[in-house]
Amino acid sequence: MSKTYLVTGATGKTGKHTTRILLEKGHKVRALVHRQDARSEALAAVGAEIVVGDLTDHDAVIGALEGINAAYLCYPIRHDLIDVTAYFADAAQRAKVELIVNMSQISAREVAKSHAARNHWISERVLDWSGVPTAHIRPTFFSEWLTFPWVRNGIVKDDVIALPYGEGRHAPVTGEDQARLIAALLENPAQHAGKIYPLFGPVELNETEIAEKMSDVLGRRISYRPVTSEAYKAHLKTFGLDDFLIQHFLCIAEDCQNGVFAGTNSLFEEITGEPAMTVEAFVEQHRAIFEKSA
Ligand SMILES: NC(=O)c1ccc[n+]([C@@H]2O[C@H](COP(=O)([O-])OP(=O)(O)OC[C@H]3O[C@@H](n4cnc5c(N)ncnc54)[C@H](OP(=O)(O)O)[C@@H]3O)[C@@H](O)[C@H]2O)c1
Repeated sequence: MSKTYLVTGATGKTGKHTTRILLEKGHKVRALVHRQDARSEALAAVGAEIVVGDLTDHDAVIGALEGINAAYLCYPIRHDLIDVTAYFADAAQRAKVELIVNMSQISAREVAKSHAARNHWISERVLDWSGVPTAHIRPTFFSEWLTFPWVRNGIVKDDVIALPYGEGRHAPVTGEDQARLIAALLENPAQHAGKIYPLFGPVELNETEIAEKMSDVLGRRISYRPVTSEAYKAHLKTFGLDDFLIQHFLCIAEDCQNGVFAGTNSLFEEITGEPAMTVEAFVEQHRAIFEKSA
């Protein structure tokens, strides 16, 4: 039966794929976008109803959730996630939605040093206390990390992945795979309400092994260069990232070294019937942006 879903963060790494996949399955999608631009126009072109709004605006969120069966909540690493989550929980309760799929992260812990990770943990609890049926997803690092300018530039210019992750291991997971899973959760609210799903790609690797996989695909040698937290912080500042985000990135680097991001599981096969993408497949899919000429 066709339903109407709200997708927030609809122009982002998971939201854009979630919107498309739900539409392909024959549902209606209201895509909440932060601004109107080429990304929102692409969503409109495939059939999404576009609502421009800000998740920090309670009235806008109430309006966006009216008439919605189930919703995906995704908000970037900003200081006001708890406010946003509380507004969303209230609006979802009014709209009597069957399920919220809440984007959290693997490092969400009550003892997290990262303010953002701790806020993710509290936000999960706010949704639980609200009584609105919710499934929390807790991904490890996205595969898209390799494409972020502060990582990708080093790959393209110097053939190095420069990060302070030590020997820390994680199984990178793509936004598109997560979207398939998010769509499946939204379609089966009763089955997934109350669950917490840690999300991993298929193969756990350290940065040296990721660099080797990249080398195999790109046909040139990429190496891992461990850097200090101080050097990483100075590097991130050159990209204009704010202090809240930098504090998070430094803390999760430490978490990664301590094994917080490690692990794999078979959730993608179990819930969607398909395995998640390997790092090699992801690099192949995005080959152009890692080329020297890019
Ligand atoms: N990246 C990772 O490796 C990773 C790992 C685990 C979990 N996560 C979680 O994934 C979530 C999203 O991460 P991301 O920042 O990388 O995001 P993203 O989903 O790719 O992008 C954020 C989206 O939110 C929109 N947005 C920003 N501010 C908004 C506002 N005030 N109101 C409405 N929409 C707004 C953005 O639109 P504009 O671009 O137009 O502003 C964009 O579409 C975070 O909760 C993070 O903890 C990420």
